[in-house]
Amino acid sequence: MTETDPMADEFDTMAAWTAEAVAELGPDHAIPAACRGSGSPAALEWLCDRLRLGPGVRLLDCGAGVGGPAELAARRHGVAPVLAEPMIHACRASARLFDRPVVVATGDRLPFASGVFEAVWSLGVLCTVPDQAGLLAELRRVSRPQALVGLLVFLRTVAHLPQQPEGNHFLTDGELNGLLARTGLTVLERAELSDFADPEPDWQAAADRVEAVIERRHGADQRWQSARSQEQVIGQLISEGLVTGRLLVLQPAA
Ligand SMILES: C[S@@+](CC[C@H](N)C(=O)[O-])C[C@H]1O[C@@H](n2cnc3c(N)ncnc32)[C@H](O)[C@@H]1O
Repeated sequence: MTETDPMADEFDTMAAWTAEAVAELGPDHAIPAACRGSGSPAALEWLCDRLRLGPGVRLLDCGAGVGGPAELAARRHGVAPVLAEPMIHACRASARLFDRPVVVATGDRLPFASGVFEAVWSLGVLCTVPDQAGLLAELRRVSRPQALVGLLVFLRTVAHLPQQPEGNHFLTDGELNGLLARTGLTVLERAELSDFADPEPDWQAAADRVEAVIERRHGADQRWQSARSQEQVIGQLISEGLVTGRLLVLQPAA
């Protein structure tokens, strides 16, 4: 029997399988399949606009996964993305799909000098990280003066969750605000993920076709079942309103 590690199944093995499925289906499937948990294109567009992303802006995507959001920002706004992601197969998958610079790194120890990025974002990552204060401090450290930091955070709306995907630590609104204040990050703007339009049908259809290929190839594999079960748990918590996605635009204190 294969030993499974739910976080690695969801973020590492699935990433490799995603790149494999895109190779079968074609490159027009790459971005929808590679936006893993980052919300809708409309939400990403809001963030791109608020972070003032434009041609040549160096954007760090921390916890970039398979790299779909950074690629969308690159193609739509001409940014120069740099990806940091701890899962080696996710790094390889993003390199295979989009060929952008990527480093294997956790967000609490970023291998960059201080003050080098004109924009930084981290999408759907904070709740998966044990050292949340450490990650936020690093996002702040690598940001240039005047740079803005974007977050997509999944928050717990109740005191106790009936179930929780393994490795996730959902903060409450109050806990997040306290953490941001302690890290010297001021909230400039916020938006609720649920207020944005769903992805266009062709975007969703492309993502679904990739999922179907992965299931056809690997559905009998315990790691696929473990990843699917993690995704189902978070999907259920969101649909019941027990966990909610929030977008934040943050300004590091001078
Ligand atoms: C829900 S996925 C989001 C991926 C990507 N940001 C997106 O929106 O498509 C969470 C990502 O956080 C990464 N992650 C987990 N622990 C991390 C850490 N300590 N530092 C940075 N990223 C981490 C995972 O490997 C995974 O790729």
